Amino acid sequence: MNDNRDAITAPSRASKHLSGSDIEALAKLGALGVRHPVMQAGMTSASGPALAGAVSAAGGIGTLGLHDVSVWEEMIERTRARAKGNPISVNLLLPYTRVKHLDVVIRQQVPIVTLFWGDGKREIRQLRKHGVFVFQQVGSVVEARKAIDAGVDGIIVQGVEAGGHVRAEKRLDVLLPEVVELTSTLPVFAAGGIYAAEDAARVVGLGAHGVCTGTRFLLTPESHIHDAYREALLAADNTILTHLFGFGWPDLHRVVPNKATERWCRENGSIPGWLKMLNTSFSFTRKLVPMKSRISSIQKPSVPFFSPAMLGRGQQESLIDATAIYAGEQVGRIHDIKPASEIVAELAKGMVFRHEQ
Ligand SMILES: Cc1cc2nc3c(=O)[nH]c(=O)nc-3n(C[C@H](O)[C@H](O)[C@H](O)COP(=O)(O)O)c2cc1C
Repeated sequence: MNDNRDAITAPSRASKHLSGSDIEALAKLGALGVRHPVMQAGMTSASGPALAGAVSAAGGIGTLGLHDVSVWEEMIERTRARAKGNPISVNLLLPYTRVKHLDVVIRQQVPIVTLFWGDGKREIRQLRKHGVFVFQQVGSVVEARKAIDAGVDGIIVQGVEAGGHVRAEKRLDVLLPEVVELTSTLPVFAAGGIYAAEDAARVVGLGAHGVCTGTRFLLTPESHIHDAYREALLAADNTILTHLFGFGWPDLHRVVPNKATERWCRENGSIPGWLKMLNTSFSFTRKLVPMKSRISSIQKPSVPFFSPAMLGRGQQESLIDATAIYAGEQVGRIHDIKPASEIVAELAKGMVFRHEQ
């Protein structure tokens, strides 16, 4: 464990005056050993031990993305080894989570879990019983209320500008204060387009205690994506919300347009009704197909079969035209690849909390 427990607040620059409940919320993160309330989002295969371990080693909350059960325990051990004694987190993407994933998290005494996409009541109860600190990412006030009622320890508020699968309909700056109103002493993290210190400072001003980003951490040497994916992100100037890459997970996601979306999506990202139905009818496959299967390797822009899998290291480069290039709406503001530790430090600079009134 980290002994630098009080370092989470730095009263040097005015950014946010803390109320009693803010102090309590921040103290909970400090007690976990988190030095900077900067969370790297779990992103399945894109956030493996190298990325999550580097973020945690830098004092942030590094999150191992959900991996197939057959490699899950080994991935957790490898992440922990890279985190150099700092706390790590793992992401349980609820539609894909199996009982074994949970069992391993508990056996390995992982200190922090983030949940996403759906009702996690049973998981929250089980994890908390074993002392795990549970965050849930939510996309609405209704969902936040359910998560709080289910007993979560922290909330991540996702705005509609987020990359990957998107639950929110409102922009972050609108939804965040609405959720903060409900939360009292729970730490609240903000997600969606938070890529620089000034973004972090803005959401702190709206009541957030921490920030969470996926897209900014994709553009690191440590993320487990193909270089062609990194290049597509650096070249991107817009994104669309679509259901296209929905085989097995037929819900809305934000991607950078490519040949596949040009072939099948209308300008607003929508897809033909029959394709949406086809994707929905195969959602039962998600707990049957191993997550490590390279199902995306057979995808082609011209054939209407598009899984949610991203283009990983070692895969064929041309698949960039046929796979989901998940990214946040603000991706055009990112122009460089930086080590994960620098991103943690940059975002932490924006989050300065003042104890004195
Ligand atoms: C490539 C990618 C994959 C993602 N996969 C997951 C996931 O597996 N689990 C999860 O909880 N969130 C996932 N997300 C969503 C993030 O939790 C978060 O809402 C989002 O990254 C915030 O927006 P930003 O990308 O603009 O920072 C993913 C996001 C991206 C960009």
